[in-house]
Amino acid sequence: MAGIATVCGFLPVQGHAIFRAMKRMFYVSRFARPLSRRDLKNIHDTAVKNNRRTGLTGILVCLGDTFFQVLEGPGEAVDRLYHDRIVPDRRHKDVFCLKSENGVRKRLFPGWSMEVFNLNEQSEALPFAFRQMLTALLESSHTIAQYTQPSLFRLLERGVNPTTIRPRRRRVTVLFSDIIGFSQFAEHLQPGTLIELVNSHIDVCSRCVATGGGEVNKLTGDGVMAYFSDRTSDGAIEAAIAILREMKRRRRRAASGSPHRLLHGGVGLSNGLVLEGNVGLALKRDFTILGNTVNQASRLEGLTRELDVQLILSREVARRSTQQWSFVSLGARELKGQSRRLEVFGVGTLPRLNMRRLHDRMEAFVRQGGR
Ligand SMILES: Cc1cc2nc3c(=O)[nH]c(=O)nc-3n(C[C@H](O)[C@H](O)[C@H](O)COP(=O)(O)O)c2cc1C
Repeated sequence: MAGIATVCGFLPVQGHAIFRAMKRMFYVSRFARPLSRRDLKNIHDTAVKNNRRTGLTGILVCLGDTFFQVLEGPGEAVDRLYHDRIVPDRRHKDVFCLKSENGVRKRLFPGWSMEVFNLNEQSEALPFAFRQMLTALLESSHTIAQYTQPSLFRLLERGVNPTTIRPRRRRVTVLFSDIIGFSQFAEHLQPGTLIELVNSHIDVCSRCVATGGGEVNKLTGDGVMAYFSDRTSDGAIEAAIAILREMKRRRRRAASGSPHRLLHGGVGLSNGLVLEGNVGLALKRDFTILGNTVNQASRLEGLTRELDVQLILSREVARRSTQQWSFVSLGARELKGQSRRLEVFGVGTLPRLNMRRLHDRMEAFVRQGGR
């Protein structure tokens, strides 16, 4: 395949060659349907024609039903091709960016505007091994996606390395939700039943948070920590109420004698500034939020038990809402770790919860050998 100039990283300006660093991107994908030799030739011909024009080089390897491609050249050209053309291309799916490098000074494939290797046409052990590797890479990226918050995975898919994101201060509404009296159950229930209860709660929370425009950032054992970046707190309040209503619906649907009948959530909401960024180093890293607002939301969630309510929010959350939520003041409270007493609010349309009675019912369930 005829090569293009290796120096397209240099931009001549007024007679001087100014160096422009390039970008390199590696991705894998899977055929959306069986592709013939002719299909591959079409991809090759288009790629060569376009890449010559835009100054891109790289390599495209086709193995089994997977592609592996390296794209390199001017940053905007790589981004435009990858995001606007390659990712939406219906000939393949599950496009996953493995790595993206900025500041690249030397091309790996300087001579190839896009060489296509069809390793399926070789019967050696190498293509077989390579195919296993690509499939494993794709599968592991999709498994990892389930353990990662969607926004982080979206960054990875776009080829943005999240570890390079600088920490920033931002205003958010933080939501904490967990299962009331969970520890009472934890020692007695069968492990499978316990996980089922926790999963049910986490499932409800994740869906309601997503509908309200937020994102679950962490699982906190039997609960979640989520945050919402909207200017108003309405989405977070909506999510909190939806969680409690959906839990009620599931309690009613559960068979009599099932522990699901006793599953109640407590939710705390707080609004304020947080520091958002990468925390942790080699062993474990988290893209998360830190600060007093986070502590406050967790304390408010804990306070639901003392005040016999299912949802407690701070004054700032109430102040930043724009809808009619019928807030009721629950008085000024002292919260652990907070320097001042804080006026807290509930929502009048939510029924109160008699914690004593709930605990008694849970105890009775366990005493009667409920597992
Ligand atoms: C696996 C794969 C790799 C591709 N690589 C390139 C490429 O390197 N350069 C390119 O211009 N198009 C590439 N394409 C095609 C683009 O997705 C898109 O169809 C094409 O850029 C449209 O060009 P046109 O507007 O000239 O028809 C690739 C498509 C697939 C499925």
